[in-house]
Amino acid sequence: MSQAGQRIENDLNQNMHKSVLLHESIEALDLKPGKIFVDATYGGGGHSKEVGRLFPAVEVIAIDQDPEVDAIRANFRDLDKVVARKVDAILFDLGISTDQLEQSGRGFTFLKDEPLDMRISGEGITASDILNSWDESALELVLRGFGEESNSRRIAREIVEGRKVKPFATTFDLVKVVGKRRGKIHPATKTFQALRIAVNEELANLETGLEKGFQVLGPNGRFAVISFHSLEDRIVKNFFRKKIKEKLARQITKKPIVPNIEEIKRNPHSRSAKLRVIEKI
Ligand SMILES: C[S@@+](CC[C@H](N)C(=O)[O-])C[C@H]1O[C@@H](n2cnc3c(N)ncnc32)[C@H](O)[C@@H]1O
Repeated sequence: MSQAGQRIENDLNQNMHKSVLLHESIEALDLKPGKIFVDATYGGGGHSKEVGRLFPAVEVIAIDQDPEVDAIRANFRDLDKVVARKVDAILFDLGISTDQLEQSGRGFTFLKDEPLDMRISGEGITASDILNSWDESALELVLRGFGEESNSRRIAREIVEGRKVKPFATTFDLVKVVGKRRGKIHPATKTFQALRIAVNEELANLETGLEKGFQVLGPNGRFAVISFHSLEDRIVKNFFRKKIKEKLARQITKKPIVPNIEEIKRNPHSRSAKLRVIEKI
């Protein structure tokens, strides 16, 4: 390949979603020929495709709420309606993929100037709806609760001041308010995370999705969840603990499995990932 060709290929690989904890999660699902596996967050299909390659006789049910993803279009909070029979393994790989972050044009990234949409499903209220209409205390709560943003009060006040002059339309309108880069982490990181969680009701959906997933899981079925921040992980940890305490599930991962140093080097996005797994009794 020419040098230019190699460069283009490297760039493409950089921007493509790299599946996180791929082998660790598939191993933990304990699949065998004839079993049914639900990939409730299909995305680019990395996990499903690897399952298909390793276990051609496993039936894969692929679900995703993004209409642009090639899977059954549904939110995992409705898993009981989508999957009307007992299954043997379920995977939730939470959040959004690198493709959605960088290519969707829906305003997930503060690095590009795009409309402030942030809806994964394309339905419901947008990030600009929230920024332009919620009152200051609600905005503050979102920033603090979903972003763990220590400057939540200042930012909420500046959003309310800013929209009097001009309503928020694009990501850069918001970046201007959140501030200029100072340290290693971009100052908009937490605000963007908070808005995305609020727009997509991610934490409420996770709580419901875990319950529904557990319902459709058959005896000895495995439930694996990969989370990417402490708010998600806390919900997963507490849900799994409760099921274990109620003697409805047994623990498979005593401590969460995290990416090894090679994976983090290859894919820095993976650094905050945590995999937890239980088995239904
Ligand atoms: C991190 S990506 C999954 C990547 C995939 N495992 C892979 O290896 O290519 C997360 C996916 O979950 C989807 N998603 C997020 N929340 C969802 C929900 N509540 N219901 C269904 N899909 C959801 C997103 O649209 C996204 O495609």
